[in-house]
Amino acid sequence: MGSGIAAECALRGYFVTLEDTTEVFAERGRANALRALEHQVRKGHLSAADAAAAAARIDPAIGMRRISSADIVVEAAPENLALKREIFREIEAGAAPDALLGSNTSSLPITSIGQDLKDPGRLVGIHFFNPVLQMALVEIIPGLRTRPEEVARAREFALALGKTVVLSKDTPGFVTTRALAVLVNEAAWMLYEGVATAEDIDTAYVLGFHHPMGPFALIDLVGIDTAVSILDVLWEGYRDPKYRVCPLLKSMVAAGRLGRKTGEGFFRYPAPEP
Ligand SMILES: NC(=O)c1ccc[n+]([C@@H]2O[C@H](COP(=O)([O-])OP(=O)(O)OC[C@H]3O[C@@H](n4cnc5c(N)ncnc54)[C@H](O)[C@@H]3O)[C@@H](O)[C@H]2O)c1
Repeated sequence: MGSGIAAECALRGYFVTLEDTTEVFAERGRANALRALEHQVRKGHLSAADAAAAAARIDPAIGMRRISSADIVVEAAPENLALKREIFREIEAGAAPDALLGSNTSSLPITSIGQDLKDPGRLVGIHFFNPVLQMALVEIIPGLRTRPEEVARAREFALALGKTVVLSKDTPGFVTTRALAVLVNEAAWMLYEGVATAEDIDTAYVLGFHHPMGPFALIDLVGIDTAVSILDVLWEGYRDPKYRVCPLLKSMVAAGRLGRKTGEGFFRYPAPEP
């Protein structure tokens, strides 16, 4: 998601530092961003010149060395509360006091992510959708202590990226993920129980409900590890059996079949070109 957000921001004229834990991962993020831009060129939605200009605005980095010069920081690390809290402590220590701080979490309460911050009023949920360049929605989530002016800034940022904004209260899964998680989990339970094949379940959702892709194609795109983390957050947050994660999803994670990003999930994918 970080690479998609970087690509969208660069396309709209922002200079982007794409931060990761190692140089290899940061470079991989930039390569993914370039691939997303090239895909838009191939589809005729973007000129090669605009894609090249955007690519030149994305710089991979590690160690948060450039954090002090950022106007906007968007965190898109794995869906893990302890990790995100730690990252935001580090961000707050290095970032300018007036920088907008956003988290792209898809399910974790913003209030919990920001609970260690000296100024939790700065943190806003800015939830993008995958693939970022193609998806028009951004869900904005104010935490309980988020200042209204920071929410307004987050909204302006999303609008500047050409997105449509919906506002959600700070509840686990917000509006979008809460519904989506149940849908893909139910599909996984059906596969687990032998009701139908993954291919037939996907075909049923696409042709029967006019969904643009089936639940297994979607979960492969999202990442099965991310989907399991999200279901765990919803289970933890509501303790409602409807969020009980299908064991098949956990087995897929244990097997390293995480979806598109590992080349295999419910379906197989060709390796990305270097
Ligand atoms: N996958 C989706 O479709 C989707 C959609 C919307 C939102 N999200 C949310 O976006 C976030 C990221 O999800 P993802 O699927 O892109 O995860 P991912 O595991 O594919 O990518 C996470 C990236 O963060 C890096 N990272 C780990 N620790 C870091 C640190 N301390 N500092 C900097 N980078 C670090 C990893 O190396 C990796 O490159 C999650 O909060 C997820 O819930 C995901």
